[in-house]
Amino acid sequence: MSEPGIFEIINTTRSIKYFKQDPVPMDLIRKVLDAGTKAPSGENTQPWEFVVVTNREDKKFIQQLYQKFVKLRFYKRHSSLKNSNTPFAKMLNGVIHLAENLHKVPVHLLVCAHRDWPASIPAEKRIGKAPPPYASIYPCIQNILLASRALGLGATLTTIHHMFEVDMHQRFRIPNQVSIVALIPIGYAKFGFGPVERISANKVTHFEKWGSKNLFKANMNKRRIS
Ligand SMILES: Cc1cc2nc3c(=O)[nH]c(=O)nc-3n(C[C@H](O)[C@H](O)[C@H](O)COP(=O)(O)O)c2cc1C
Repeated sequence: MSEPGIFEIINTTRSIKYFKQDPVPMDLIRKVLDAGTKAPSGENTQPWEFVVVTNREDKKFIQQLYQKFVKLRFYKRHSSLKNSNTPFAKMLNGVIHLAENLHKVPVHLLVCAHRDWPASIPAEKRIGKAPPPYASIYPCIQNILLASRALGLGATLTTIHHMFEVDMHQRFRIPNQVSIVALIPIGYAKFGFGPVERISANKVTHFEKWGSKNLFKANMNKRRIS
C-alpha cells in the first residue's frame, strides 16, 4: 500500500477522540518525535522536550484530573446538547468521551517547552515566570499530529492539563523552567481519519488589501472566460 501524500495527510488529520486500546510500537513514537524535532523555531532554539507516558497508574492520574476540569468546563453545556446533531455538539461529545476514556489511550505524550521571554517584552516588564515560547513549539506539535496520521496513528492536541499543570509537574518531575504545552493522546483511531471540515480559504483571504475578497473565485472565472 502506498503512503498517503502530504495533502491527503493534511486533509484527513482530524482530532481523534475515539481510540482503540491496541498498543503502539515505540519505534512509531520515535518516528513521530523525530518529525516533531524537525520543526522550525525562533533563532533555532529548539525549545522542546517530551515525556512519553504509557504507565497505567500515571495515565489514570492524568485522566482523573483531566475529567474533573472537563466536567467544570463542558458538562453543563453538554447536557443541553446531548441529543443535538450539530458539529459543535458532536465535537463536545468527542471531548467528553476522550475525558472519560483518556487513561485507556496507549500513549500520553507531554510536549514540553523551555520557558523564554519573547523579545517584545522589555526587561522591566519581565515579572514572574516566562511564558513557554508558543510560536516555536506549535510547529513541532503540528509536525507530531501530521506524522502520527502518516503512520496510521490517531492523535489530538489537548490543553486542559494547563488547569492542573502544578500536579503534572510534581508527578512527572518536570522542572519549573519548563512548561507542558500540550498533552497529546496517541493510539489507533476507532473510526478512522478525516475529512477535515473548515471554513474555505477563499472566505478568509483578502486580495492585496483587507476587504477585497473572492480572489480565488475571480481567478477561476477569468480562466473559464479565456
Ligand atoms: C489550542 C487547542 C486546544 C485544544 N484542546 C483540546 C482539549 O483540551 N480537548 C480536546 O478533546 N480537544 C482539544 N482540541 C482539539 C479541538 O477540539 C479540535 O481541533 C477541533 O474540534 C477540530 O476538530 P477536527 O480537527 O476533528 O475537525 C484543541 C485544539 C487546539 C488547537
